[in-house]
Amino acid sequence: MVCSNSVLQDAAMNVLELPPIRPSSRHASRNPLTAPAAHQWTAAEPGKPIFLHDGAMLLLRPIAPGDVEALMRAFKRMTPEQVRARVFHALSELPAPVARAMCQVDPGQAVALVATDPDGAEIRGEARVHFDAVTLAAELALAIDPQFIGKGLGRILVEHLIRAARAHGMREIWGDTQAGNFAMLALTRRLGFTHDRKRDDASLVRFFLNLDSAAAHELDTSS
Ligand SMILES: CC(C)(COP(=O)(O)OP(=O)(O)OC[C@H]1O[C@@H](n2cnc3c(N)ncnc32)[C@H](O)[C@@H]1OP(=O)(O)O)[C@@H](O)C(=O)NCCC(=O)NCCS
Repeated sequence: MVCSNSVLQDAAMNVLELPPIRPSSRHASRNPLTAPAAHQWTAAEPGKPIFLHDGAMLLLRPIAPGDVEALMRAFKRMTPEQVRARVFHALSELPAPVARAMCQVDPGQAVALVATDPDGAEIRGEARVHFDAVTLAAELALAIDPQFIGKGLGRILVEHLIRAARAHGMREIWGDTQAGNFAMLALTRRLGFTHDRKRDDASLVRFFLNLDSAAAHELDTSS
């Protein structure tokens, strides 16, 4: 189903009501699920300012049909190891039909976010969750531009998608990653995910976060 930009943006913006993330001390323990809702976002806005550990500012917004070329360029900047970590096989470039499909998001089935340069020209991070209305579980996947690795961008994107999944009534957010993907294992561990080696493929680790329990924690802290 082709989804219009405004529908997509409306759907995604409803769940993104988080204040701009200010640089925080690298080791501050912060529960991503208790961030107060504040920022009201208009469709016209090029994106919401987010700040990385080094103080760099990027703009966060829902992916849009017009991002096809930028997404293909971003994919080309990824290292072969990163590509394999993201799509589990070698791929020298992102085929245009796949890029188009990734930029056309049905808000009832997924939320996909991009973090761009302040001028909006280049995508520096892409993250998405796909909702399963039967299992009420949302599958997570993301990739960060190699020049922007280790600056907290992955964490910011996953924090937003955790709230997006909960706002869509999901009860769990999960994904698979290679057992040797220490960055993704560390990132998900920092956000409270549980890890489980996959029985049918020992080279993979399933990471998952029970949103109900997280919600319970949110209730505790907000009372
Ligand atoms: C995995 C990936 C998304 C991490 O993104 P990132 O922006 O570098 O991660 P962050 O800087 O937000 O790191 C978050 C935390 O994870 C930890 N971490 C990140 N990379 C790490 C590494 N290589 N080794 C150890 N810890 C690491 C840090 O402790 C960091 O904690 P902080 O919040 O206190 O800074 C990124 O490396 C990537 O795009 N990899 C290729 C694609 C991929 O693997 N996708 C995931 C599978 S779907």
